[in-house]
Amino acid sequence: MRITVVGTGYVGLVTGVCLADSGNHVVCVDVDDAKIARLQRGESTIFEPGLQDLLSYNIRVGRLCFTTDLESAVRDAQVVFVAVGTPPRADGDADLTHVDQTALAVARAARHELILVIKSTVPVGTAERLAPLVRQQAAHPVHVVSNPEFLKEGSAVADFQRPGRVVIGAFDDRAAAVIKELYEPFVRNNNPILIVPPPAAEMIKYVANSYLAMRITFANQIAELCGACGVDFDDVRRGIGADNRIGIDFLYPGIGYGGSCFPKDVPALCHVGRRKNVQLTILEAVHKANERQPTLLLDAARSRFGDSLHGRTFAVWGVAFKPRTDDVREAPARRIIDELRTRGAAIRVHDPKALANLREAYGDQLVYCEEPYEALAGADALFVCTEWTDYRSPDFDRIRAALRQPVIFDGRNVYSMAQMRRHGFEYYSIGRPPLRGSTPA
Ligand SMILES: NC(=O)c1ccc[n+]([C@@H]2O[C@H](COP(=O)([O-])OP(=O)(O)OC[C@H]3O[C@@H](n4cnc5c(N)ncnc54)[C@H](O)[C@@H]3O)[C@@H](O)[C@H]2O)c1
Repeated sequence: MRITVVGTGYVGLVTGVCLADSGNHVVCVDVDDAKIARLQRGESTIFEPGLQDLLSYNIRVGRLCFTTDLESAVRDAQVVFVAVGTPPRADGDADLTHVDQTALAVARAARHELILVIKSTVPVGTAERLAPLVRQQAAHPVHVVSNPEFLKEGSAVADFQRPGRVVIGAFDDRAAAVIKELYEPFVRNNNPILIVPPPAAEMIKYVANSYLAMRITFANQIAELCGACGVDFDDVRRGIGADNRIGIDFLYPGIGYGGSCFPKDVPALCHVGRRKNVQLTILEAVHKANERQPTLLLDAARSRFGDSLHGRTFAVWGVAFKPRTDDVREAPARRIIDELRTRGAAIRVHDPKALANLREAYGDQLVYCEEPYEALAGADALFVCTEWTDYRSPDFDRIRAALRQPVIFDGRNVYSMAQMRRHGFEYYSIGRPPLRGSTPA
């Protein structure tokens, strides 16, 4: 099929590359000239495992290209995906400016019948609202379909290539059948393709993200309670995770969820609730609790080092909102960095993939280290904020030697209590009692 993808961020680029890889001809469009120039040179603009190889290959075989010219990109397309951003407004509602602009521009550019697929995460009712507007602008039939994306950053290519399910929200069977055909190569394992009305498809996406955010927050709060009761949450997690009505995933306590989805999608669903006069008290509480979560580690740091951190230096390992991505949007590590800096501390930071994105946000206000141990030099303590595998089995003697004092604040419970006790660290983690440090065994 001839496909156009508008918006080449985390979702659009992965979608375009994977659809090209299954044999389609794909044109990816973005308004960001610099991004498109890099992609035209065959350079991936994001870090995602497996993406660079597929990008290079599909450009080479002539199935994938990039442009800033929406009109020419839409001219021959049978299907146009909209994968532009839907950032939060101040009141929590999703800002649909980019989606609306794109949908109308595609309608105006259409030279024949086409299917317009909304892949961006949009509130319930968006496809219904856009369908007549698009029809008014287009000289040819434009069928609006909702197709929310469930890929996870860090395994986006694998998730796109083997989705657990595909959800297609369509007003008419013909458009649904075309999109279903497009996805069939990816569900050879018989994972379901669900065809539902567009508002249901839009709702499924928000409910999925909100439910996962709720599980993380549940784990965070129960872990705190476990800590207060002298119980190791990890034992509890294994105990409840073995119950197949509950399951083990998304029950890891930490400094809170981040990224470009959960922190905006939970408030957006709450906003829909308020508009419809339905009380989503659980989700309102989830959002509030997540905002508080990084303060647990910061409070521990305040008790240890006092209110003023002038003259102190802290090392931060991991700033991406989760491992295997370079995305630092809404990353809890940033809350930690911001608060430590506000109280006067200097920050030395390492991340295997996200330093370039962090530098865009902080410029020369931080010291960026290409190597984890370099970040420790002369620091008063180490904060571990992302559970990259790189940090799982470090050289603890080297950490002790580099730090001014052997203090670790572990925001992801990467290390075991036994390990920390053995190495004599003063150790603060989530939902576990602090260790006061000792001479290493
Ligand atoms: N990131 C994820 O893990 C994920 C997963 C599922 C769904 N989503 C949803 O997918 C959507 C996109 O998310 P993302 O993380 O890929 O965003 P992103 O910010 O990484 O990418 C959006 C891209 O759209 C471009 N853009 C904006 N306006 C444009 C326009 N008018 N024309 C062409 N390009 C335009 C931007 O320049 C940017 O490159 C959001 O609604 C998000 O909620 C994201």
